Amino acid sequence: MKNKILNILKNTDGYISGEKISEQLHISRAAVWKHIKKFKQDGYRIESVTNKGYRFVASPDVITETAIQGGLDTCFIGRNIFMYDETDTTNERAKANSDAPDGSVFIAEVQTHGKGSRGRGWTSPKGSGIWHSILLKPDIPPMEVSRITLVAGLAVCKAIGLNSAIKWPNDIVINGKKICGILTEMSSEINMINYVVCGIGINVNMESFEDELADKATSMYIESGHKYARSEIISKLLNEFEYYYRKFLDSGLRAILDEYKKHCVTLGRCVNVIFKNKTITGTAVDIDENGSLMVEAADGIISVTSGEVSVRGIYGYV
Ligand code: BTN
Repeated sequence: MKNKILNILKNTDGYISGEKISEQLHISRAAVWKHIKKFKQDGYRIESVTNKGYRFVASPDVITETAIQGGLDTCFIGRNIFMYDETDTTNERAKANSDAPDGSVFIAEVQTHGKGSRGRGWTSPKGSGIWHSILLKPDIPPMEVSRITLVAGLAVCKAIGLNSAIKWPNDIVINGKKICGILTEMSSEINMINYVVCGIGINVNMESFEDELADKATSMYIESGHKYARSEIISKLLNEFEYYYRKFLDSGLRAILDEYKKHCVTLGRCVNVIFKNKTITGTAVDIDENGSLMVEAADGIISVTSGEVSVRGIYGYV
């Protein structure tokens, strides 16, 4: 029945009344209404207008491996894709499959236990965001792994455009609100990396945010007024990621630092650097070749390593 109703809607130019659909399919108008309600919950866009009926607008945006692969121009990033309709967190899926090839990507439509940084959760609703993790096997010292988060931040910024900027080290923001978070984890020996998982979450087609996220989070839809095909954004992002990641592996962070700094909104701002037992206020003046933020404080310049502390703008989140 579901497909029959969808076919009628799709094959109608303009509006069709619930009554007409019910007559054609020999079901009640209430049954038609229930199906339409369910379609809307599943992400179909169907307009309902009193005295006119229903009009089909668009099918839900579904992420597919074929669509992603079609837009890729990478050598190894995204060449193996693991898709999940639902999973706990894509970072854990990547870890559980760490014998998969370098550059494999793990994507979920919905995460039930999305992980944020500092032990926080990450809200990952169905059908509207990009929740994915890239499995990497770089030949670099474990202490340099946090730099991959900066590489990912720059790649996200380039892929989504829309005047997005980086809040050092790796939050992507638009108009002072967060649109993307990055969580990099690794498994290593003392001086050798087994693997790195770079988890990236992007708010794409959300129309609004609730509760504590309402003031802090935004989405590509909210910022641009139009919806995006998420597979296309994933391909773009993986292309950008490979470009900057290879530069980083070949020549270190210095190879991408100028571009990173150009997109970094933290520089030039007054920030609070929150250590475990003290907070220092100063001005963020530079980022060095290790990816550390240089903050000019009362006692001179301090170097802040990503992961070590939390940096907050003194006039708000950014
Ligand atoms: C942050 O707190 O800013 C980091 C958020 C990272 C979210 C992404 S979504 C894909 C991957 N899977 C997770 O559970 N977390 C990361």
